[in-house]
Amino acid sequence: MNDVLPEAGDAWDFLEGTVLRCLRQYGYRPIRMPLVERTDLFVRSIGEVTDIVEKEMYTFTDRLNGDSLTLRPEGTASCVRAVLEHNLLYAGPQRLYYLGPMFRHERPQKGRYRQFHQIGVEALGFTGPDIDAEVIVMCARMWRALGISDVALQINTLGDPDARARYRARLVAYLQRNLEALDEDSRRRLTTNPLRVLDSKNPAMQPLIEAAPKLIDDLDEPSLQHFEQVQGALRGANVSFEINPRLVRGLDYYNRTVFEWVTTKLGAQATVCAGGRYDGLVAQLGGKPAPACGFALGVERLLALLETEQTPVPSRVPDVYLVHQGEEAAAFAWIAAEQLREQELDVVMHCGGGSFKSQLRKADTSGARFAVVIGDDEAREKKVSLKPLREAAAQVLLDLREAAALVKRARP
Ligand code: HAM
Repeated sequence: MNDVLPEAGDAWDFLEGTVLRCLRQYGYRPIRMPLVERTDLFVRSIGEVTDIVEKEMYTFTDRLNGDSLTLRPEGTASCVRAVLEHNLLYAGPQRLYYLGPMFRHERPQKGRYRQFHQIGVEALGFTGPDIDAEVIVMCARMWRALGISDVALQINTLGDPDARARYRARLVAYLQRNLEALDEDSRRRLTTNPLRVLDSKNPAMQPLIEAAPKLIDDLDEPSLQHFEQVQGALRGANVSFEINPRLVRGLDYYNRTVFEWVTTKLGAQATVCAGGRYDGLVAQLGGKPAPACGFALGVERLLALLETEQTPVPSRVPDVYLVHQGEEAAAFAWIAAEQLREQELDVVMHCGGGSFKSQLRKADTSGARFAVVIGDDEAREKKVSLKPLREAAAQVLLDLREAAALVKRARP
């Protein structure tokens, strides 16, 4: 679990601001859910035999009433719970987004943390393949807006639950025939969640996985058609993709379209964004059946990627740093600072006194383009001296309005 220090904060703000701007362009609206839910919610939605539920949840007992509670490991379950609890689908389909910390007790490494942040999107109540395509196209727009190019889209379809059951039986038979080639993890998964064997990163397992039966051969016709239409829409929108028949995702609620955006730049933690359809979850959690689709992006991973791409992140420096000396000057400084802020300037006022010289040193390190200098003379005239800090130009005496206008004109 990490602290985010001010130095990194600008990049966080840039990423969140850019992504939220995109979400609003597509009509997504904010929802905020609590960080803690009943454990049962996650067990029922993510699935009992998934890594998350089996070994990664921060679960504790409420001391007052003995309830089992869990820090949310992801947002989809909570979001669907909130939508049902407040009957939001009564008003029609919903396009929602949330952002915030998620908690998984994983082995920490670069790009994998125990508290990490997601921006998640859930579109509920839409049946057709157009919404699958919309969320994917929206991701592509986000990457462009962020200046990220090293991400590739992988898609797959998991079909309907019957197709998956047929495939599961075929896969289990295949894996059992090859039992001696399975590693320990895969043997365990064989009886609990055999599709996850395909997810194994163990190089020794790869030939076996390559040769495994493919889900696509068991798919139901409507799912195949849906998948074709999603692909058609992506081509129409000029979003390139690769079909990865082994993409199965680590959470049980998915059906039909699943997708991941992966990068080659971050080593093992290559997936920066992932999601898909989950048409059964609303009913499974007690609601009237409603289709749904969504994704979540990993903020820390995207930030790491931004760093490798050397995308210039706009860093926030104040427009002016205000220095002052003298009693009358101190009183006027407050007024001047507030009036400059009224004119939309970002103003850092020097606090704590000191000589002009030392105050101007602070002004310099603040990154501000100008210092606003106020001595008793300026205070009496209700004016300020504007001193350019980034070029060798002379200091000029101006009233506040003129000073604000000049600073704004000088913005890059
Ligand atoms: P997920 O694949 O578990 O899906 O997580 C989504 C993204 O969160 C991952 O692709 C990754 O970028 C990031 N992430 C996951 N675990 C960690 C970690 N320990 N440290 C850093 N980043 C991490 C979900 O959570 C689904 N709720 C997505 C979804 C929404 N599906 C439909 N709607």
